[in-house]
Amino acid sequence: MKVIVKSLEEVAVDLESQKKIYERWAPIYDQIYAKLLSDAHKKTVEAVAYSSKDIPASKDILEIGVGTGLMLPYYPHTCQIYGIDLSCAMLKRASARVKKLKLKNVKMLASMDACQLGFQDESFDAVAMPFVITLVPEPERALSEAARVLKSGGQLVITTRFGADEGPQAKVEEMLAPLVKKIGWSTSFKLARVKRWAAAYGGLIVHDPERTSPAGYFKMIRVQKS
Ligand SMILES: C[S@@+](CC[C@H](N)C(=O)[O-])C[C@H]1O[C@@H](n2cnc3c(N)ncnc32)[C@H](O)[C@@H]1O
Repeated sequence: MKVIVKSLEEVAVDLESQKKIYERWAPIYDQIYAKLLSDAHKKTVEAVAYSSKDIPASKDILEIGVGTGLMLPYYPHTCQIYGIDLSCAMLKRASARVKKLKLKNVKMLASMDACQLGFQDESFDAVAMPFVITLVPEPERALSEAARVLKSGGQLVITTRFGADEGPQAKVEEMLAPLVKKIGWSTSFKLARVKRWAAAYGGLIVHDPERTSPAGYFKMIRVQKS
């Protein structure tokens, strides 16, 4: 197994460049992504906020990488939502959305790194990570933080585009990784990495990925904390 260990300096540089990239994305993000991600966003909310189909639960939910808050209007009023993101420019837009749509169930929006969550252990009934894990310099650390703040019996839901596990597509994606990173995308993050992390962390069940539109391009995985 290839272990990637980044120095503190490398991590700091990565985080700074992410902030700069999303400062540029913030004004145009919704125009480009709102429609494209809407099915994935709705399915992610269904997974974290509903106890069974059409029955909203009453839960405290953490959304990691909340961005401009595109997913916020989909949460039922019965849930209390806490959103964090690295980028203040993205958070400003999320905050404007909360005000405009009077989303009273959004209890907090804060600037925070996914790898250093300022919450106590077992604070949330569910944690959502939509389209962020591939951008974090130390994804395993972010996943462990998400699992730490999740209550026992709770669910972590990761939604993203996963890279191919092997074969020519995987090779091309790995080659393109440094290039696409410059525009805040990722092509090479693999589902196998989440499975390896979960096995090492322990006490977690990783469910099979579920496909979301368009055409199953994005996937959602539920990780259950026992
Ligand atoms: C592709 S956007 C997704 C935004 C939102 N989740 C959505 O689905 O529309 C990625 C977001 O992750 C945030 N992000 C990147 N690295 C982060 C980190 N280390 N901690 C927290 N947020 C991060 C970016 O600032 C950006 O808002």
